[in-house]
Amino acid sequence: MEHLLTLEQLSKEELLDILNLADQLKFQKKNGIPHELLKGKTLGMIFQKSSTRTRVSFEVGMYELGGYALFLSNRDLQIGRGEPVQDTARVLSRYLDGIMIRTFEQKEVEDLAKYGSIPVVNALTDYCHPCQVLADLMTIREFKGAFDGLKAVFIGDGNNMANSIIVGCLRLGMKVAIASPKGYEVCDHIVDFAKQYPGMFEMTNDPMVAAKDADVIFTDVYASMGQESEAAVRLKAFKGFQVNKELMAVAHDDCMVQHCLPAHRGEEITAEVFEAHADEIFEEAENRLHAQKAVLVKLMADK
Ligand code: CP
Ligand code: NVA
Repeated sequence: MEHLLTLEQLSKEELLDILNLADQLKFQKKNGIPHELLKGKTLGMIFQKSSTRTRVSFEVGMYELGGYALFLSNRDLQIGRGEPVQDTARVLSRYLDGIMIRTFEQKEVEDLAKYGSIPVVNALTDYCHPCQVLADLMTIREFKGAFDGLKAVFIGDGNNMANSIIVGCLRLGMKVAIASPKGYEVCDHIVDFAKQYPGMFEMTNDPMVAAKDADVIFTDVYASMGQESEAAVRLKAFKGFQVNKELMAVAHDDCMVQHCLPAHRGEEITAEVFEAHADEIFEEAENRLHAQKAVLVKLMADK
């Protein structure tokens, strides 16, 4: 693996390899076993959007691996004043051992990888959120023991989270159902991807249909970063697309809930369901750290 730009690029074996390493790194951290696998390495972290989890988990992750992370905000970088990504990539490649980027367009991440000469990690674009879904998959395996035969359900916007969940869960042998309001479905590219897994993928506009017999239910905000001006319109369009007690009642009794956070209680999820599944949701947040450390080691160790 040269970069982590999308989950599509990873085979089932590569995905499992990352998750296995993540489990091992989590064990080492919990047991005080040193694992400075990136001693002396540097990671630049470009943020063109806000972040709590991603910023802190990558920064702490690099520290725990014996390396160093630089927080590079869009407000301070010349990229924010229009310096082309092609030039930024070539400059940063001469100082750093890796780059993590959170931005709007997927193409910007791809260009960074294309023009630079060091590994690039996608830490969220409008198209996908691979690091988050690696943590989600790790959490599912922790709670359920395996992936095969489980049904994963996403309720809400056909956004970056939906895209990566569909790809990651199908790759690992799970069935996936997604319920989105009309006009907010996932893009054709993801529908085409799912065609590789006949009989495993279902798309509907009815949350109750999707949630039937679910083993894991995911949701995410109605309006993502960059869509703030659409918030009022979306609030109306997503009426009924909520993870609540009634929806959970049609899922399996031991169904998990995952939320990438931040959550909007009373919109995509009720406070009641959120709190009932808080252990799973905060384990998921913690697992960002372990899963990303695994990605960084795979990309940057021994290079
Ligand atoms: N889930 C997630 O990526 O959180 P942040 O936006 O806080 O990084
Ligand atoms: N879909 C959300 C995910 C936040 C982690 C967003 O892009 O804002």
